[in-house]
Amino acid sequence: MNLSGRNALITGGASGIGAAVAESWLRAGANVTIVDVNAEALEATGKRLGIRAEALDVSSSDAWTSFIASHDHFDLVHLNAGITTHRDVLDGPADPAQPPLVRVTDEEYRRAIGVNVDGVVFGARAVIPGMCERRSGDIVVTASVAAFVPIPPDPIYGLTKYAVSGLVKSLTPRLAEFGVCISAICPGFVDTPLISERAREWIAELGMPLMKTEQVVDAVTTSVTRRVNGAHWIVLPDQDPILHEQATVPFPTNPQ
Ligand SMILES: NC(=O)c1ccc[n+]([C@@H]2O[C@H](COP(=O)([O-])OP(=O)(O)OC[C@H]3O[C@@H](n4cnc5c(N)ncnc54)[C@H](O)[C@@H]3O)[C@@H](O)[C@H]2O)c1
Repeated sequence: MNLSGRNALITGGASGIGAAVAESWLRAGANVTIVDVNAEALEATGKRLGIRAEALDVSSSDAWTSFIASHDHFDLVHLNAGITTHRDVLDGPADPAQPPLVRVTDEEYRRAIGVNVDGVVFGARAVIPGMCERRSGDIVVTASVAAFVPIPPDPIYGLTKYAVSGLVKSLTPRLAEFGVCISAICPGFVDTPLISERAREWIAELGMPLMKTEQVVDAVTTSVTRRVNGAHWIVLPDQDPILHEQATVPFPTNPQ
């Protein structure tokens, strides 16, 4: 992968998958900027990799507007920041009378929608005009296998990942006309700070191994080198990224 001369942006780049992708893109020669809300992790990752690291709350439309206005163009963008709903949903004791959805507060719900959905919508809306003007660009969205399978302990998380998958599919045809490729990566469980201790136990009970971030990085590399418009790359333990074939439906790809 040769990314020299490309301006890359990674949201949620201070930690986990985002930090691993930042390192990979830096090695491939890209000019990398990471953004995050975790100031401490942002500073540590920025210093470790020697890259630009800036505070940006992806859930704020205004913050995106001023961020984009104060930067040169980006032609490689990973919209990756994401959260689960409140830890209690995954960490708390199972209580049949209190299924997870009942325990999610309005604030937790809005926050999850804000980061996982608004963060991708606002991010895409901010970078698309420049990419279309230059008639080139790549956007990779971190969705999840939760876009395909149920995640009973965290239904709001499942909702948000299904939502961004729908966004990617619907943006694809028009962006492709401008030479802009948008795709999604859909990992299973990955060993990052997102996965709490209780979640680790639950995942172990399911018999699912936790993947290393490197495996997700491989999928992101596949995504930006193969450039399959609208692709959903599923990432599962010990397998190469799996291209989820888009269903053929009797519907015009570009209805006006
Ligand atoms: N870890 C997994 O098992 C797994 C599996 C599938 C998908 N994902 C997705 O991968 C992405 C990255 O998660 P991760 O596992 O690396 O977790 P992580 O917690 O290590 O990284 C997520 C980063 O997003 C940042 N962030 C949170 N809110 C933000 C906001 N408002 N604005 C900017 N940054 C914000 C966090 O501070 C953190 O640095 C997420 O979208 C997550 O849903 C994770």
